Amino acid sequence: MKNIHLLGLKNYPREDIQTIIDTGYRFKEVLERPIKKVPSLQGKTIVNLFFENSTRTRISFELAQKRLSADTVNFSASTSSLKKGETFKDTVQNIEAMKIDAVVMRHPTPGSPLHLTKYIDAIIINAGDGTHEHPTQAILDMMSLHEKFGYLKGLKVAIVGDISHSRVALSNIYGLQIMGAEVTLCGPSTLIPTHAEDLGVKVNYNLDEVIEWADAINVLRIQRERMQGGLLPSIREYRTLFGITNERLESHKKEVVILHPGPMNRGVEIDSAVADSDQAIILDQVLNGVASRMAILYLLLGGKQEKEPK
Ligand code: CP
Repeated sequence: MKNIHLLGLKNYPREDIQTIIDTGYRFKEVLERPIKKVPSLQGKTIVNLFFENSTRTRISFELAQKRLSADTVNFSASTSSLKKGETFKDTVQNIEAMKIDAVVMRHPTPGSPLHLTKYIDAIIINAGDGTHEHPTQAILDMMSLHEKFGYLKGLKVAIVGDISHSRVALSNIYGLQIMGAEVTLCGPSTLIPTHAEDLGVKVNYNLDEVIEWADAINVLRIQRERMQGGLLPSIREYRTLFGITNERLESHKKEVVILHPGPMNRGVEIDSAVADSDQAIILDQVLNGVASRMAILYLLLGGKQEKEPK
């Protein structure tokens, strides 16, 4: 692996993404065993530093660390001495003084994982920084697409929803294009950045045309807090124009694979009938999240990527 940290997928080497996916498959086999544990990261200590809520990312990182036999510590901002006025810098430098090897951080401020590299020497993995990037989510999405289709080069992937505020979208845009996939964005014009096409993607505001084009659709959560900002007229209108409903999918003569990073707003951006159908790979994404995060931790902390995981 060329990079010491995993801060984002912009300009990330293609071969490193492929190595993570390939290693993820091997760790997925470990997850199928009765004893789901390997000694790969024995003696390593990883701190999960979460300044924002999470279910999937936090639990899957913690499980990945435990499956690799690393020692793992969870930090929650709401119960820490930050509440007594301690600074971010003092907090992370005190944690590093306890001899840790890596930090997995989620933070609402874009760029905060890069900022953290200036304060500590530990390996940093970005678990989502505001509206910027969520690289491990994009890697698990790409692993799930690769597993489903057998390839990424030339795959047609649509990302539908609130693109402007989505770190999942940006990391997928970078990662998928590095891997040779074609990407189309779809959503309300108020939620798609005006410079989107500069990122090398297409933009199409007509969801039916997008479904006709796509092999797979990554459906993003509608962030209800955006409703107050006047960026969406109403949930009903959003659902009519951009909702992934059974009726809409059935009106097309082809099957399209559905992904969703979670958490889902059932009945808004996606219907339960779709989310729970065989064409959705949403729970495969969750399992691949553990396997691919094991791969990322192993490759960044172990330095033994040329060998098979033990
Ligand atoms: N996909 C995702 O990042 O989910 P969480 O916010 O629950 O971690």
